Amino acid sequence: MAAQHKKGKLTARERLHFLLDENSFEEIGMMVTHRSSDFGMDKEQYLGDGVVTGYGTISNRLVYVYAQDFTVFGGSLSETHAEKICRIMDLAMQNGAPVIGLNDSGGARIQEGVVSLGGYADIFYRNTLASGVIPQLSAIMGPCAGGAVYSPAITDFIFMVENTSYMFVTGPNVVKTVTHEEVSSEELGGALTHATKSGVTHFACTNEIEVINHLKKVLSYLPQNCEEPAPSLNYQAGDERREKLNTVLPENINQPYDIRSVIEEVIDEQSFLEVHKEYAENIVVGFGRLAGKSIGIIANQPAFLAGVLDINSSKKAARFVRFCDCFNIPLLVFEDVPGFLPGTDQEWNAIITNGAKLLFAFSEATVPRITLIVRKAYGGAYDVMNSKHIGADMNFAWPSAEIAVMGAKGAAEIIFKKEISTAENPQEKWLEKEKEYSDLFANPYRAAERGFIDEVIEPAETRTKLMKAFKMLENKVVQKPRKKHGNIPL
Ligand code: HXC
Repeated sequence: MAAQHKKGKLTARERLHFLLDENSFEEIGMMVTHRSSDFGMDKEQYLGDGVVTGYGTISNRLVYVYAQDFTVFGGSLSETHAEKICRIMDLAMQNGAPVIGLNDSGGARIQEGVVSLGGYADIFYRNTLASGVIPQLSAIMGPCAGGAVYSPAITDFIFMVENTSYMFVTGPNVVKTVTHEEVSSEELGGALTHATKSGVTHFACTNEIEVINHLKKVLSYLPQNCEEPAPSLNYQAGDERREKLNTVLPENINQPYDIRSVIEEVIDEQSFLEVHKEYAENIVVGFGRLAGKSIGIIANQPAFLAGVLDINSSKKAARFVRFCDCFNIPLLVFEDVPGFLPGTDQEWNAIITNGAKLLFAFSEATVPRITLIVRKAYGGAYDVMNSKHIGADMNFAWPSAEIAVMGAKGAAEIIFKKEISTAENPQEKWLEKEKEYSDLFANPYRAAERGFIDEVIEPAETRTKLMKAFKMLENKVVQKPRKKHGNIPL
């Protein structure tokens, strides 16, 4: 325990103490020991075999938990250690409650060989069966290496601690041998690396207590299982007008601003919990509440790369949309998108397949879905960002919305190319044609004429309109064609 504390880490039981409601923890399998005898292992038996498993409550709601104990064989996973985790997962599935894994392990118990690998696979299989049935949350509180990373990867959210946790398929030594790269554990697979570069972790926290607090906060937005509605807090309706929204956008259409300033003004005060904050910052996703009810928010971020859709932002948003849809969390989209990012890097790395993920995820979602177009909705991105054509229930637009194939400047250059190049003053002609296109399309009214936009609303009225619309959609039921499952472009 002293060694654990010296590294700035808590022990498994301390973590559970901070995670669960006081006196709510009931341990299961406390006396389990391993069955191995190779390498003199029969002389080294420790009760519990390196993992503390059981159930308890968080804010009076049932959760199943396992916490790997690094003080016993480095938290490594033996056959019996795996059986204990599987038992918790089976109980969670049968009783419809979330599973929380606190990971701190040296991986497969080396002395046991293949049986510990089998144990991992038993967990992966259960993770997959449980996906979409109960929320699964993984906190990485120490090492998580080799194939062990694939259990957290299948779960819904990963939380990591800066400087004391890492995840990688092969560690720095193997990397050095194979690719001759010299890299530290932290750089290769630390919290910041996975929060910014790979997107593997959804939350990078400065210490373990922060991880635990974040984890509890995320749970507060989620139902216990896929059969339950998302939780709702008591809400006393008052004056829902938000005058600030009438002036929140910059005058210049091309000027960046932080979409969070719009989100935070629209949803319930202090209710925004951003997910994947440091990754693909051109899209913002997270949980919030509207009139006390959980919602999932997806918003283009004009403050970063002009809010363009690219490979990483499409993947990030698609995964979040699918999570919310699994667990009955209605979707609210804030749209201000200039289109998809051009370039060889994007094309060669399959923006086609990856952009399609977001399109597929929205099209597939059956929860109540509302879009608010605040400014640009250009090109294919208009279709993808939860348009009515792909099954959104309501699309609202602010008067500042521009719904068109592209911006007026680019459009004029293409369709009036000849006229501009042969004009006496090409620059003047270009401006004239830009204005012509802009007058026609740089507004929400052409789309509203078609019914693609249900209503053009005064920004200050946004909360009221959204609250009414979500209430109207509360009992939404959608029948989809019978199938085993779709084939999302992976
Ligand atoms: C058995 C292990 C162990 C393991 C650590 N220990 N990992 N015992 N199996 N996998 C033991 C150590 O022998 C030591 O025992 C104690 O745990 C603490 O380990 P230390 O090395 O002293 O701790 P530290 O310096 O913090 O280093 C932690 C570590 C290192 C980086 C995790 O222990 C390590 O590299 N372990 C091996 C990691 C590994 O290769 N695992 C297999 C990965 S492959 P004593 O008795 O001295 O206290 C894998 C495949 C999964 O997991 C496949 C799924 C499909």
